[in-house]
Amino acid sequence: MAPNLDQDKTTMSESKVAIVTGANKGLGYAITQKLCEKYKGKVYLTSRDEVKGRNACEQLMKLGLNPTFYQLDITNNESVKKFVTHIHDNNEEVEILINNAGVLFLKDAPESKLVQAQQTISVNFTSLVFLTEAILPFMKSGGKIVNISSSSGHLSRIPSEDLRKKFSSKKLTLDELKCLVSSYVEDVTADREIRKGWGASPYVVSKVAVNAYTFILHRKLASQGITVNCVHPGYVQSDMTHGAGNIAPLLAANVPVQLALAPREIGQFIWHNGSAVPWGGKDPRVYIDGRHV
Ligand SMILES: NC(=O)c1ccc[n+]([C@@H]2O[C@H](COP(=O)([O-])OP(=O)(O)OC[C@H]3O[C@@H](n4cnc5c(N)ncnc54)[C@H](OP(=O)(O)O)[C@@H]3O)[C@@H](O)[C@H]2O)c1
Repeated sequence: MAPNLDQDKTTMSESKVAIVTGANKGLGYAITQKLCEKYKGKVYLTSRDEVKGRNACEQLMKLGLNPTFYQLDITNNESVKKFVTHIHDNNEEVEILINNAGVLFLKDAPESKLVQAQQTISVNFTSLVFLTEAILPFMKSGGKIVNISSSSGHLSRIPSEDLRKKFSSKKLTLDELKCLVSSYVEDVTADREIRKGWGASPYVVSKVAVNAYTFILHRKLASQGITVNCVHPGYVQSDMTHGAGNIAPLLAANVPVQLALAPREIGQFIWHNGSAVPWGGKDPRVYIDGRHV
């Protein structure tokens, strides 16, 4: 008798996987390397550029590691849907999601401030949310989400007290957060973001929004046993910092990987030294614009 494939699929146990976005280089690559070394399940090295992603996988394979490549541009909804369909069709349970992909326009970037704001918000916040919400149905109790934030994600970086209150309200919903972030882009479009108290950095707004999303998710998922944290990885030597920075990616990967494998904290903003920092407290940086403070 021919086997009942449908039944086989439902009784088959799901294989557990970890996903890292923006993993072809920098911090994401280092996180993937460490996960391949320490995590027992399959590790997806995802990258928007297929050639760069496959090359990165080959580099890790030369170290005796076994990442699985998947092309994933987080700003492309079709790309996200294709990846999620792949997870579904392979009967995979996502145990770890590390939202690492991100962009930063440095001060001398030629793009207009509106383009910078739109792209920064799109990659760092809107797409991170879209991917995470698409992956959530494939997570169960024991799942871990690590959002790579920044010192720029500290609430104190937003000048307006009114905006800080909105971002940090325990009643803030995801829809309200999306509206709040959209209003930032509208304010940049109308050239009034400074007057409205957002400050001059789209990167700050994007990472503060990532932290706000982390805490919304934590409130929603803690009772289901899914752990959500956001982390400032330190000033990392990568293309984003044009090779500046004071910590190598492999060292900076330690805290995010620890949060992905065995989180001691839940629903927290974790600093690069592994300690939880109060999001609404004093700016925790000790070194600002080249000066000790
Ligand atoms: N470097 C630091 O000092 C520092 C400090 C605090 C926080 N962070 C955060 O750490 C994370 C990693 O940064 P990094 O320093 O490793 O920077 P990086 O070397 O520039 O790497 C960024 C990664 O994100 C990917 N990416 C960008 N847009 C994407 C998209 N639409 N879809 C998928 N992937 C995309 C890039 O892919 P391509 O190669 O194709 O561009 C690259 O793989 C970011 O979230 C960043 O904000 C960095």
